[in-house]
Amino acid sequence: MTPLLFLILLTHTALADFWDDRNTLLSNEASQLLGSSIQLTEDEQKVNDILMNLKFQEYDEGFLDPSKFLPSIHFFHSKAAIEQSEVFKFIQKVPKGASLHSHSSAMLSFEALFNLTYMEGLYGCDDNGTFRLYFFFGGVNDDCEWRLLSDWRNEDSGFDEFLTSKMTLVVDDPVGTYGDINAVWSTFQGIFGFVSPLFDYRQFLHDYLYQVLQEFNDDNVKYLEIRGGFGETFDSNNTIYGPLDTAQLYIDTQQEFRQQNPDFAGIRIIYSKSRRVSTDTMDTYISNYFDLRAAQPDLIAGFDLVGQEDLGEPLSVFADQLAAIANQTKFFFHAGETNWYGATDLNLIDAILLNTSRIGHAFAITKHPEVLRVVKEKNIGLELNPLSNQVLKLVDDLRNHVGAYLIANGYPVVITCDDPSFWGSKGLSYDWYMAFMGMTPRDGDLRILKQLAWNSLLYSSLSEEDLVYAIELLTGWWDDFIHEILETYQ
Ligand SMILES: *[C@@H]1O[C@H](CO)[C@@H](O)[C@H](O)[C@H]1NC(C)=O
Ligand SMILES: *[C@@H]1O[C@H](CO)[C@@H](O)[C@H](O)[C@H]1NC(C)=O
Ligand SMILES: *[C@@H]1O[C@H](CO)[C@@H](O)[C@H](O)[C@H]1NC(C)=O
Ligand SMILES: *[C@@H]1O[C@H](CO)[C@@H](O)[C@H](O)[C@H]1NC(C)=O
Ligand SMILES: *[C@@H]1O[C@H](CO)[C@@H](O)[C@H](O)[C@H]1NC(C)=O
Ligand SMILES: [Zn+2]
Repeated sequence: MTPLLFLILLTHTALADFWDDRNTLLSNEASQLLGSSIQLTEDEQKVNDILMNLKFQEYDEGFLDPSKFLPSIHFFHSKAAIEQSEVFKFIQKVPKGASLHSHSSAMLSFEALFNLTYMEGLYGCDDNGTFRLYFFFGGVNDDCEWRLLSDWRNEDSGFDEFLTSKMTLVVDDPVGTYGDINAVWSTFQGIFGFVSPLFDYRQFLHDYLYQVLQEFNDDNVKYLEIRGGFGETFDSNNTIYGPLDTAQLYIDTQQEFRQQNPDFAGIRIIYSKSRRVSTDTMDTYISNYFDLRAAQPDLIAGFDLVGQEDLGEPLSVFADQLAAIANQTKFFFHAGETNWYGATDLNLIDAILLNTSRIGHAFAITKHPEVLRVVKEKNIGLELNPLSNQVLKLVDDLRNHVGAYLIANGYPVVITCDDPSFWGSKGLSYDWYMAFMGMTPRDGDLRILKQLAWNSLLYSSLSEEDLVYAIELLTGWWDDFIHEILETYQ
């Protein structure tokens, strides 16, 4: 053999190896992707072709002109275009199963929440520069110059605009307005504080919750696990009800909704209180939690702590108290909703040591290989909230969201919505759109959406018996959806 021929052969073999190896690597990766174990039926394959045509078109347009790729744009500026997206419209139709992470006073679309400020009995007052809302029946408190909202509206044509600004994070220039995570959280917590007195009035709470269920049901979400606590409430006769009666109102309202919508599967509450408290207060929370759960075991799913993680107490501060009850409760801890490394993110370590059933956000999880290992080993659901993380300043471009890594590696993730009210979102579809377009590969397909829907039940707190029933329902909804798509798009 001449040296030249030898060289050609060698090059040829090396090249052949290169392409074989490349195919092997790609197919190994594809087999780790979320949803890759799902085999599509013939009909599902047709639906998948429809979906992928829509996705490729939108994705490739974005590739040619990145300034138009919606997951890379701040949601306040992308929302209108998302609503025009064919992929989004498709995702709205997908049976998404359950929403496993949202907060009770931030779940309703802003428009519907704002409408509820027209309820009878709502007063406002300017408390030395701080505007406050409250419902009064048969006389107002004398701590402030309370006036009916209808009077405020009559006297000031700019009132609704002012009120809007107190109830949403949405602004024209989010980047300029909210300099850093603490700044945006400060406004965010302010909104929670501003609206929270409304929930003391039972009729408001009822109407609000009923509409939440309606919106999620309309978005093809049939079961909710909601973070919340229960305080005292009052009715228009000024009768005061305790936390147990407030919990009963949740149960009654969802039952009323289910009478009208028999295929809606219901709600459960994850009892959630502020993490920015003393250990004594935590003892009170824990004891209130067990009282509530004893009274309403079907409603109360578990325990969590909420509020900005960087500024709140780390789980380790309460570790002894929480470990002492870990054998008697499920935990659903928010953990790792941070960009820090070696600080707030250690909540992830503590959450798994406390045997948390799921992790809320887990945004910092790739900094902790041991947490990643345990999450896979023990199948701990990770609740990803793409829009929340963008608006609350953990990541600007959702292609850089940690969810892409978790999805690529087939981690047990669910896609949820956190606080749609305050950033102009509604239901789950906006977050699912962001995850599907921004956090899955270009050729990531219907199998991912199907796995996400199934995961939302598999990682829920439902008992084994209820889970079997829920999966049966979801299977039926999914089949209906497949047929509906085949009819609509052909
Ligand atoms: C808000 O109220 C108006 C007027 O009653 C109604 O037309 C609109 O549909 C309501 N919007 C929502 C989101 O509830
Ligand atoms: C009202 O606010 C001003 C400035 O913020 C403060 O100086 C004043 O003490 C406040 N008055 C009352 C009654 O709280
Ligand atoms: C208030 O009291 C009246 C008279 O007792 C009763 O008819 C009405 O149902 C009560 N309203 C509420 C919201 O409980
Ligand atoms: C967590 O679960 C493990 C295994 O079941 C158990 O050994 C450990 O004590 C639990 N941790 C707590 C804090 O209960
Ligand atoms: C749970 O663990 C605590 C100690 O950490 C123990 O006192 C208690 O008996 C255990 N309860 C159950 C139901 O196992
Ligand atoms: Zn949350």
